[in-house]
Amino acid sequence: MFKTRLTELLGVKYPIIGGAMAYLSGGRLAAAVSNAGGFGLISAVTFSREELQSEIRLCRSLTKKPFGVNIALIHRDPRKIEQDMNVVIEEGVRVIETAALSPEQFVARLKKKGVTVLHKCAAVRHAQTAERIGVDAVTLVGYDAAGHTGLDDLPLSIMIPLAVDSLKIPVIAAGGVGDGRGFVAALALGASGVQMGTRLMASKECPACDKFKNWLIQTEATDTIHIERSMNRAYRVRRNEATQKVLEMEKQGCNVFDILPYIGGEALQKVIFEGDVNAGVVACGPVAGLINDVPSVKQIIDRMVKQGQNIVKRLHDS
Ligand SMILES: Cc1cc2nc3c(=O)[nH]c(=O)nc-3n(C[C@H](O)[C@H](O)[C@H](O)COP(=O)(O)O)c2cc1C
Repeated sequence: MFKTRLTELLGVKYPIIGGAMAYLSGGRLAAAVSNAGGFGLISAVTFSREELQSEIRLCRSLTKKPFGVNIALIHRDPRKIEQDMNVVIEEGVRVIETAALSPEQFVARLKKKGVTVLHKCAAVRHAQTAERIGVDAVTLVGYDAAGHTGLDDLPLSIMIPLAVDSLKIPVIAAGGVGDGRGFVAALALGASGVQMGTRLMASKECPACDKFKNWLIQTEATDTIHIERSMNRAYRVRRNEATQKVLEMEKQGCNVFDILPYIGGEALQKVIFEGDVNAGVVACGPVAGLINDVPSVKQIIDRMVKQGQNIVKRLHDS
């Protein structure tokens, strides 16, 4: 029932991608998504060359199914991007999802190596550019997604129809999908698949600690907020003391370097691996308000598909 151009392109059973999550999306989580019939992504951004290599190898040892690597095209050390690309090619990974900046300078080289390129962006015009420069599919990030959501502030209910009306390549909906209702809604809007992040943080295979996962379960849909707007960006995160501090600093006119101690690195690791939930800023979407348990990734995906099938049947029969 859910065969789409995306399942064809990626060679998977369901058009469901496990969104790359810094520190959390290693080989184990990515393999769990792929084994459940979806498509797992490893997030390269926080891994060293050796770590990325071993996460790719771990993933390959845990699944025979296809998986990919997400590479953020902004990094304090630009050599890191080149290095990530090289590791992925050397390790024979067939799919890369680029994010953050236009992948124009990389696409021809990656395609020559036989790599399928997905590009993640937060504006329909960026998706159009991505198609023009030759990517195979775009992941469109909506206003309610966790992480960087761009500045257009449009929900997927508007972005996806606008994108599919103006693009030929498959469009993947990212943001606010946590169950079969969001899944089928995205397909109804014209998406060829979905990508989810927040829902997968509350899964057994996610390496975050139990205290963090319990905090996530208690999160209400209204507990997330955008920070970094004063810096011409929008980063959707879970409200906590660190977020509050950053927002206050933004009011005082701070710059991006001033907030670094609260974002990423050690601060984020304290939140997700030690459950010190006020120690730093963590990306989180309002779909957290729909999450009440910590099942396996397979259970999450099976439930989504089953619920999705029932919705389609109900609509068909009514
Ligand atoms: C904790 C966390 C870390 C993330 N890190 C990254 C990342 O490193 N690169 C990236 O492209 N997207 C990142 N994302 C965004 C996800 O890949 C995904 O697109 C997003 O979570 C989808 O929205 P949802 O959370 O509503 O499902 C992250 C999301 C979360 C929750």
